[in-house]
Amino acid sequence: MRKRCAMKALFLLASIPAVSHGVHAAGADFRAQAASSAQEKNPSPRKGPDVQYVPTPHDVVEEMLKLADVKKSDVVYDLGSGDGRIVITAAKRYGARGVGIDIDPERIRESQENANKEGVADKVKFREEDLFDADIKEATVVTLYLLNSLNQKLKPKLLKELKPGTRVVSHNFDMGEWKPEKTVQLLGSTVYLWVIPASPPAN
Ligand SMILES: C[S@@+](CC[C@H](N)C(=O)[O-])C[C@H]1O[C@@H](n2cnc3c(N)ncnc32)[C@H](O)[C@@H]1O
Repeated sequence: MRKRCAMKALFLLASIPAVSHGVHAAGADFRAQAASSAQEKNPSPRKGPDVQYVPTPHDVVEEMLKLADVKKSDVVYDLGSGDGRIVITAAKRYGARGVGIDIDPERIRESQENANKEGVADKVKFREEDLFDADIKEATVVTLYLLNSLNQKLKPKLLKELKPGTRVVSHNFDMGEWKPEKTVQLLGSTVYLWVIPASPPAN
């Protein structure tokens, strides 16, 4: 009986929905940890999103690409790519190649449709993957709209796998102690730019 109650509690924890942008970070981290320890004991076949889908407004997308100084020769990766708008815009406006990575198959389908509609299907690819496991080494620009806690978790991967000189832009969320090279405010949003250094920053 006690075992059955414990299993039920674990199931309830595992079914907590993805963190939204409005949730307090400490509570969010606690729930993410609880859900992941429940998953370890009661493995489910698929991991859900770490953050809910909220699209970046188009004007902010334009600013992110401008701040990253995207060119035709770039390969733009959006980690958590939603409806694909960032890589699709990079392909349409600058002729860049783009790769969108999202864990939600519905978002991947939508992105592929959008790329077809916008006539850039030959320039962009969408991969259904966990962004923390994705091979990102060919990127020359990486875009993010996640959470502070997810940026922090992602930082070691970015610094390890990306080539020096790769630009990283994030909508609204910073990298803690790793200070941005530039910051732009527009329409109530903040856009941050970092450049991957030849040797890792102190923090
Ligand atoms: C806030 S939305 C940003 C969408 C898009 N980048 C934009 O700026 O319009 C975050 C996206 O990340 C995806 N996501 C969340 N956790 C993920 C993970 N672990 N791996 C890949 N994608 C993830 C969600 O499905 C969602 O589409």
